Amino acid sequence: MQDEIQEIEAAALAAIKSARDEQELDGARVAFLGKKGRLTGASAGMKNLSKEDKPVIGQLLNAARSAITAALDAKRAGLQDAADRAALAGLDLTLPGRPAHPGGLHPLTRLRDRAVQICRRLGFALAEGPEIETEFHCFDALNTPPEHPARNEKDTFYFDSGKLLRTHTSTVQIRTMEGEAPPVRIIAPGSAYRRDEIDATHLSVFNQLEGLYVDTDVNVGDLKGTLEFFYRALFGEDTEVRFRPHFFPFTEPSFEIDIKLHVKGQAPKWIEVAGCGMVDPAVFESICASRGDDAYHPDKVTGFAFGMGLDRLAMIQWGIRDIRLLIENDARFLRQFA
Ligand code: PHE
Repeated sequence: MQDEIQEIEAAALAAIKSARDEQELDGARVAFLGKKGRLTGASAGMKNLSKEDKPVIGQLLNAARSAITAALDAKRAGLQDAADRAALAGLDLTLPGRPAHPGGLHPLTRLRDRAVQICRRLGFALAEGPEIETEFHCFDALNTPPEHPARNEKDTFYFDSGKLLRTHTSTVQIRTMEGEAPPVRIIAPGSAYRRDEIDATHLSVFNQLEGLYVDTDVNVGDLKGTLEFFYRALFGEDTEVRFRPHFFPFTEPSFEIDIKLHVKGQAPKWIEVAGCGMVDPAVFESICASRGDDAYHPDKVTGFAFGMGLDRLAMIQWGIRDIRLLIENDARFLRQFA
C-alpha cells in the first residue's frame, strides 16, 4: 500500500504541474482528492489494514494529501499570477499618474460672495429682481425720461412685448421699495445687459452689485463711510477711495467712485469702480405714486444707492487684464482659482 500511495502522490503532482489553466487544475484536484478520487479511494482501503499498519499508512495518506493540496494552491497562485501579468502586458506601471483636478469656485463667484459677506456685516439684506424687466422699473421709475440715451434702441435689448433685459440692477431698488416700507437696507447682486461692443473691458452681459439704504436720516456721510469701508474690507486697509461728482437721473447728488490701483512697475492710477448717490426725491415720489401711500415721501425719508461692476472688481482683485477670460471657460485660466 505504501508504494501505491507514493505512486498516487507522484501522479497527482505531475498532473498538477502540467495543468495549463484553472479548469485542468480543478480536473486534477477532482481526480485525486475528489469523492471518487484516487487518494480518497486509497484511504477507503484503510479499514482492511491491521492495527499496527493503520497509523503508519494513515500518516502517509495525510502527508500525501497535504503535499497534493499545497501543490494545488501553489499552482493556482501561479496561474493567477500569469493571468495578471498577461492582463497588464504593455502597461507601464511606473508612469506617473494623471493628477485629479479638484473643482473650484469661479473667480466671479468668489468675489461676489466676499462682497455680499462684507455688506451683510453692515446690515444689508439680499434682494433680487427679474432680469427681464419693464421699461417702468428700468427707466421711468428711476427718473430716466424717454429721451435719455440709455433708453436708445442701440443701447438696450428690447423684446417685442415692450419688455427689456435690464441695463442695470437699479431696478431692484424700485421693486424693493414697492414691496417694503422703510427702513430698507438691501443689496442685489445680479446680471445686467447692454448692447456694448465686446472687448477687453466690455461684455454685453455683465454683473453688478446694487445697494440701497433708506431711512429717516441717511446722509452723504453714511454713503461715503459705507463704501469706503467696503472697498477697504475688500482690497485692504490702505486702499485709497475717491468720490468724484457725476450725474445719474435717479440720485442727487451723484458720484462716481474711483480706487487707486497700484500695479508693479507702473505709476498708480485711479480706476472707476462704482456709481452712487443720494436717492433723488423724484424717485421717492414715483414710489409713493405706485404704492399709493406716502411711506417714502421725500420729506420723511432719505437714502443712498450704489451700483458697482463685479466683473471689474474681480479683474482688480486678481490682476485680470481681459474681461473675456471670465466667460470663456478656459480651464488653463480657471484652474488657477481651484
Ligand atoms: N445704475 C448705475 C449704472 O449702472 C449705477 C448706480 C447705481 C448709480 C445706484 C447710482 C446709484 O451705471
